[in-house]
Amino acid sequence: MPHKIVLITGVTRGLGRAMVDEFVRRKHTVLGCGRSQKGIEQLRKQIGPPNDFAVVDVAADAEVKEWAGRLLGAYGPPDLVLNNAGVINKNARLWEVPDAEFSQVIDVNLKGMANVIRHFVPEMVKRKQGVIVNFSSGWGRATDAEVAPYCATKWGVEGLTQAFSQELPPGMAAVALNPGIINTEMLQSCFGGAASGYLSAGEWAKTAIPFLLELGPRDNGKSLTAPGG
Ligand SMILES: NC(=O)c1ccc[n+]([C@@H]2O[C@H](COP(=O)([O-])OP(=O)(O)OC[C@H]3O[C@@H](n4cnc5c(N)ncnc54)[C@H](OP(=O)(O)O)[C@@H]3O)[C@@H](O)[C@H]2O)c1
Repeated sequence: MPHKIVLITGVTRGLGRAMVDEFVRRKHTVLGCGRSQKGIEQLRKQIGPPNDFAVVDVAADAEVKEWAGRLLGAYGPPDLVLNNAGVINKNARLWEVPDAEFSQVIDVNLKGMANVIRHFVPEMVKRKQGVIVNFSSGWGRATDAEVAPYCATKWGVEGLTQAFSQELPPGMAAVALNPGIINTEMLQSCFGGAASGYLSAGEWAKTAIPFLLELGPRDNGKSLTAPGG
């Protein structure tokens, strides 16, 4: 497998953190972000250059713009973009979800994804190369009670991705990915104790990363589900 530059949002824990380890183990270069200063400092200590980890809130367009400017200058356009950063509302009926929490879920899960696309994809389009993976969910294709804000964003990710895929030149691809059900802090928030019955992020990454590395132009516009999850 040729060396790839892989951009991952949300690397401080969960699926993002596990994907960093698996890509680095396979000798690819990872450019990652998260909001937690502590989480990013730990990553920098554990995994050195040329990998690059930065404190960036994907919901803040100006922060993403600055991050993209620096990384595109240093590394050129990424080969693979994993729009993984996400948040879920605390389990609650829709009418009990405060306005600020609803906005946060939209701002991170949908607008954050658009911010990353806005600032990284133009350079990828110039080269007519690269794959963008937008993290969806089983809750982007079905629903349950008490996670309506999250479902709204993940159904939105599916629509955003399909429309966006129609805008890309031949040679590129955008896909929506349901990673499956994996025992992370996010799953613990919505599933409670039952989360421990599911696969760990590290186990998931072992089968998910080879699958992600194989994605190419023929997959453009697809709604996919990761193996193993
Ligand atoms: N786990 C599952 O079973 C499951 C199922 C379906 C879909 N998914 C999707 O898979 C993705 C990863 O989920 P996960 O389970 O790994 O969640 P997680 O354990 O809660 O981790 C989320 C990651 O996203 C980062 N993040 C959140 N908001 C951010 C922001 N505004 N800017 C930058 N980074 C941000 C978090 O770091 P900071 O807090 O440091 O920012 C953290 O590193 C999400 O899109 C989720 O919706 C997960």
